[in-house]
Amino acid sequence: MTTRLTLPRPDDWHLHLRDGAMLAGIAPESARHFARAIIMPNLVPPVVTGREAQAYRDRILAVTGAGFTPLMTLYLTEATDPADVVAAHRDGIITAVKLYPAGATTNSASGVRDFDRVRGVLDAMAEAGIPLLCHGEVTDPEIDIFDREAVFIDRVLDPIRRRTPELRVVMEHITTLDAVAYVRSQPERLGATITTHHLVINRNHILVGGIRPHYYCLPVAKRETHRLALVEAATSGDARFFLGTDSAPHADDAKESACGCAGCFTATNTMSVLAQVFDQAGALDRLDGFVSRNGAAFYGLPVNEDTLTLEKTDSRVTYPARIETGAGPVTVFDPGFPLYWQVAQDARS
Ligand code: NCD
Ligand code: ZN
Repeated sequence: MTTRLTLPRPDDWHLHLRDGAMLAGIAPESARHFARAIIMPNLVPPVVTGREAQAYRDRILAVTGAGFTPLMTLYLTEATDPADVVAAHRDGIITAVKLYPAGATTNSASGVRDFDRVRGVLDAMAEAGIPLLCHGEVTDPEIDIFDREAVFIDRVLDPIRRRTPELRVVMEHITTLDAVAYVRSQPERLGATITTHHLVINRNHILVGGIRPHYYCLPVAKRETHRLALVEAATSGDARFFLGTDSAPHADDAKESACGCAGCFTATNTMSVLAQVFDQAGALDRLDGFVSRNGAAFYGLPVNEDTLTLEKTDSRVTYPARIETGAGPVTVFDPGFPLYWQVAQDARS
């Protein structure tokens, strides 16, 4: 028996596409299913000016073609010029600005150390209605890695929001009950993205029975109670929660190493995994909110007019174990359970 589900074409509100040979190899994995994506600026060197964002957008479009819309972001540094940010937004080059606390994650060395030094930019963004996307982890070496998100809320996020209440903020890739509760406690101007992998794995998946580098990402997956809170939030229908896959490719030799990089690559099978998660939660009727509607509403963008159809089959769905790129093979996220949902109709084909 086949069950079908047709959704407005989904969007990915947090995506790493990289550059060069890696971009060429992995961008089609997202463009196949998603209409639009918020593109992370953590290249080396990072995308810090409107001009750089425009050039990066052109490099992405050269790979994906015009059927996919990259929504660009700027990497906030202590030297960011508020006028450049406002102009890039006014000219339609950027959609948002990304805050990485310095040293929090892959390629974040240029991030913010002293939050007082970016007040002028945050004020200008609040006035122009430009969202701030937060990698919500403190980097203080004293703080346990499993507590870094909760501490970020208290020490950084809440003070920023109190000082600049008009600023629109997205808490990205939330991993804790604390983040879900914080979002719910705030009536306005705060949304949160949830990744595919954080709906599926907890910290045991990374560490039990051997260390599994392809499950290591930042923020690191937490204990099961937190995963359950994320599933509840994603499937609740609350429009403040929406998909941001944080699909973050690294070549396998960089992951399977004595000091492996953080990042899970989920672009290829994200829609299959999500359909399965929502089906299991008895919430298939809310999948369209999570993947196709809530994020668009937060950003004030229209819901996509074309559609994506998922189908559930009796036999196990297969997908490539890895994507071969000119920058090396990239292992596709393994949810650890068989998948029965697949994308049936590819509007790009
Ligand atoms: C991301 C990457 O590889 O760029 N890694 C990750 O684990 N999520 C960076 C990030 O978003 O933190
Ligand atoms: Zn990310």
